[in-house]
Amino acid sequence: MNKSDAYNLKYHITPPYGLLNDPNGLAYFNHQYHVFYQWNPKGTEHKNKCWGHVVSSDLVHWQRKSVALEPSEWYDKDGIYSGGGIVHNEKLYLFYTGNVIRDDGVKESYQCAAISEDGEYFQKIGPLFEHPKGYTRHVRDPKVWRDQHGNWWLIVGAQREDLTGDTLIYKSKNLSEWECQGSFVDHDHQFGYMWECPDVLHFAENDVFVFSPQGLPERGEYYKNPNQSGYIVGKLSNTGKFNGNLSDFKELDRGFDFYAPQSFKVNDRTIMFGWMSAMNEEAERAVPTIQEGWIHALTLPREVVLMNGVLYQKPLPELQLLRLDDMHYKGEIQNNSEWLLPSTQAELIVHFSLLTENFKMIIRDAVQIDYDWEQNSLTVWRTNWLTGEREYRKATLNNKLAEMQIFIESSSLELFVNEGEEVFSLRYFIEDADQRNVLLEAGDNVGEVRMYQLQE
Ligand code: FRU
Repeated sequence: MNKSDAYNLKYHITPPYGLLNDPNGLAYFNHQYHVFYQWNPKGTEHKNKCWGHVVSSDLVHWQRKSVALEPSEWYDKDGIYSGGGIVHNEKLYLFYTGNVIRDDGVKESYQCAAISEDGEYFQKIGPLFEHPKGYTRHVRDPKVWRDQHGNWWLIVGAQREDLTGDTLIYKSKNLSEWECQGSFVDHDHQFGYMWECPDVLHFAENDVFVFSPQGLPERGEYYKNPNQSGYIVGKLSNTGKFNGNLSDFKELDRGFDFYAPQSFKVNDRTIMFGWMSAMNEEAERAVPTIQEGWIHALTLPREVVLMNGVLYQKPLPELQLLRLDDMHYKGEIQNNSEWLLPSTQAELIVHFSLLTENFKMIIRDAVQIDYDWEQNSLTVWRTNWLTGEREYRKATLNNKLAEMQIFIESSSLELFVNEGEEVFSLRYFIEDADQRNVLLEAGDNVGEVRMYQLQE
């Protein structure tokens, strides 16, 4: 079935058909960026997980490769679950979780690796270590890195037998023998029931532990998605422990659709992709692209920078390659301005100079952004496609609102605020592929708008 113009995403990584979830195995190898993703090529449910594969030389234009890993062995026969990638001795290593449902119905997980010399065909080398004692079968999503002394470290998301979330750390000298060093972060077991997709970001100033805890209760404007992805800032010690405080946990993205992010570092830049969805099976079943045989996308790649203890997420400068012209439009904001987007693939940049009151912006009659001047907060509204009700996500900014950079596609929107101080990522679905209106109800001369048409 073809993807319709109403919903197709043209500059995001999507599956050719079937279901996509987490970004996996991010690596720069043989002069190309490699992005793998959780992929069910056989349907739009969470089953038959393989690793789909795309490559790029600029992080913007992607070429599809054949499926990289699919279930074939006793230790991964029911799914190739998430994990990371590294490059070592001119080989690309992928680490993943083998999902197994035994004949007697018992479920098991194995942390495995596969190696490639050409970045295309992978040889599986099987499970790396025994299942840790004191943990349920929910141990998954290995991510590996090397320290400056040549040691390899692997972290993996886990659930303790008391049904609380955790992350384990393993150490290796040779990538084949791994020793468990215990919990990555010491904590009191009160932070969700499972931690998925752990990742560690290394900056000069500090280290950052990113993970996706499941089961945090909603708290004010926080944790409104079914599950969260966020981070704590701290320091990695040479015993493999991460010294950081879970009470400092901060959500990475304040939109509706962001989960299971993964990063990689290339030439000193830390680049992150997320899965542009929320983990909610009921809402997933109602996504209209299912009628077209596909579902979900990755977010755009973002550069992640740590500044004064806060992660800023900026759209990569390479995304400017998507712009089809120098500039489609530039103009001052007048009281109640109206524009037409050049296309449903567009970038909109709003610079504020003299903001002294609230404003309201409505994009494609679908997504509304409200700014509250007194609170210095942004609220983003969309229609929930399952219930038909309007719903919102809200973030209060630390800095005065100076800029909004918005990437729009037929059924996605990513709003970067103040060069990445906050990001809202979301999907929205409207049937009218020609709806291109943008309204901005604001004061006179509060700033300027620029629009670019992006590549289809
Ligand atoms: C996160 C996740 C991972 C798992 C994968 C399976 O979305 O649940 O923990 O490895 O998806 O597709």
